[in-house]
Amino acid sequence: ITKVSTQTLLAMKARGEKIAVLTCYDYSMAKALDYAGIDILLVGDSAANVMAGFETTLPITLDHMIYHAQCVARAVERAFVLVDLPFGTYQGDPKTALSSAIRIMKETGGHGVKLEGGIEVIDSVKAIVNAGIPVMGHLGLTPQSINLFGTYALRAKSDAEAQKLLYDAQLLQDAGCFSVLLEKIPAQLGKEVSEQLSIPTISIGAGKYCDGQVLVIHDMLGLNKDFKPKFLRQYADLFGTIAHAAQSYISDVKTNDFPNEQEQY
Ligand code: KIV
Ligand code: NA
Repeated sequence: ITKVSTQTLLAMKARGEKIAVLTCYDYSMAKALDYAGIDILLVGDSAANVMAGFETTLPITLDHMIYHAQCVARAVERAFVLVDLPFGTYQGDPKTALSSAIRIMKETGGHGVKLEGGIEVIDSVKAIVNAGIPVMGHLGLTPQSINLFGTYALRAKSDAEAQKLLYDAQLLQDAGCFSVLLEKIPAQLGKEVSEQLSIPTISIGAGKYCDGQVLVIHDMLGLNKDFKPKFLRQYADLFGTIAHAAQSYISDVKTNDFPNEQEQY
């Protein structure tokens, strides 16, 4: 098996092969997704939402992220394991950012980190890249700034915000990022950024012209029952599958059908 590296991903953009990314937070899921041939497994801070049940991504800690990343990295043979730096671990100053990223690299077996923002965090990006750690940028809707935005609505609809995003994307590339994630922006802007950059863009709600796509695994498997944004394609109904399986089990236990003669010692 040839492991996916930042070079693999750059080469994929160069030859026009799309990059498939999913989020992942645990060992068993990572086994299945790596087996399926996913290019990047993102240990996203969306773990705060789908694993821990928080309203926003702000409460998750670096220790929590390290735990999830360890679980994923233990399972993976091929995929590039990318780990989100959580809120509060990189915005303050480059030294803190670097020590956060170093903890992830030393303690988890992950291959790189992702952080949110452009010019505001560019010194942190440079410090991490200069230490030899691959960094993916994240622009557009940046959920760690939800309290500033006020909503999870589409970003960069105005010309001014679109221009800033194009500028930030270029800054991130120049600072040495190997890729930039674009969240919830118009498809035309996603196209412009993807054409402007030589590093791959990864879209979540940023349209078909980006160099790759990412979805939160719970959303695409239909585990996150009532979350149905326009950009989401749902590939399974795991909530229904799990609930039905549990109902069958409950019924079998109550009716004394389970276990039967063959299922006991
Ligand atoms: O944490 C996350 O799930 C993300 C998404 C944008 C994929 O960063
Ligand atoms: Na994230």
